[in-house]
Amino acid sequence: MPIAIRGITPSFAGEVSGIDITMPITKEEVAAIESGMDKYAVLVFRDQRLTDEQQMAFSRNFGAIENAYGGNITKPEDKRLAAGMNDVSNLGKDGKPLGLDSRQRMFNLGNMLWHSDSSFRPVPAKYSLLSARVVNPKGGDTEFADMRAAYDALDKETKLQIEGYVCEHSLMYSRGSLGFLDYTDEEKQMFKPVRQRLVRTHPVTGRKSLYLSSHAGAILGMPTPYARILLRDLTEHATQPRFVYAHKWKPFDLVMWDNRQTMHRGRRYDETQPRDVRRTTVAGDTPTVAQAAAE
Ligand SMILES: [Fe+2]
Repeated sequence: MPIAIRGITPSFAGEVSGIDITMPITKEEVAAIESGMDKYAVLVFRDQRLTDEQQMAFSRNFGAIENAYGGNITKPEDKRLAAGMNDVSNLGKDGKPLGLDSRQRMFNLGNMLWHSDSSFRPVPAKYSLLSARVVNPKGGDTEFADMRAAYDALDKETKLQIEGYVCEHSLMYSRGSLGFLDYTDEEKQMFKPVRQRLVRTHPVTGRKSLYLSSHAGAILGMPTPYARILLRDLTEHATQPRFVYAHKWKPFDLVMWDNRQTMHRGRRYDETQPRDVRRTTVAGDTPTVAQAAAE
């Protein structure tokens, strides 16, 4: 059976069949997936029993794997997974759920805020691929918002107003909104804000989208309270149910999304039970706007 993509909704999120991504895939299959990503922005692959090595090999079909440096407070020696894999589980190195008071766990709760992966990096991510190895018995859906449709639905005045805006993104803004305010000097240096355009254009389709993220905490040239109200307002607009697909995980689902045209968030789940989901991230190739000169 050849590869096929069926829309879960007419224009957002598709389900892929007729492919085994644990094996090397052909150039034609890579092209079909890329074009499915351009159309649907989120693709679901069911029943793919991937190892970490296979997940990384599949991801590399779409670009280099992003360097994870600076994306978390977890120290290298405390990491459960090998380089190239992002641990989105609630597990410690011993394979057991982290304590509810674990700083690592609390920091990772930021994944439950709407965001686009790595928007806090000067060159933000292209795709993310999340593989469910152990599904939590309760909750834990991942929701995706279509930022192209959200942009299209803005009124003309707002589109004109925000066209040239440049935001500052930092992990300290997203975590700060959860009351997570204490960082070491090293962490502060690592989480220094970067600049991102608020309206970005997809390099293949030419469609515009709202580039929002909970990491965005300022707009250049605007007093912070005004900027934050505008960002909240736009986020509220962009995450209305009509723009959202909620993925209910089954074991060995792999969901792949385009961070350049979507936001996502995890939903709460039973933290005492394991949830083992592992992400690979395909690096972007260009910044959305020039960065500030280094100090
Ligand atoms: Fe994420």
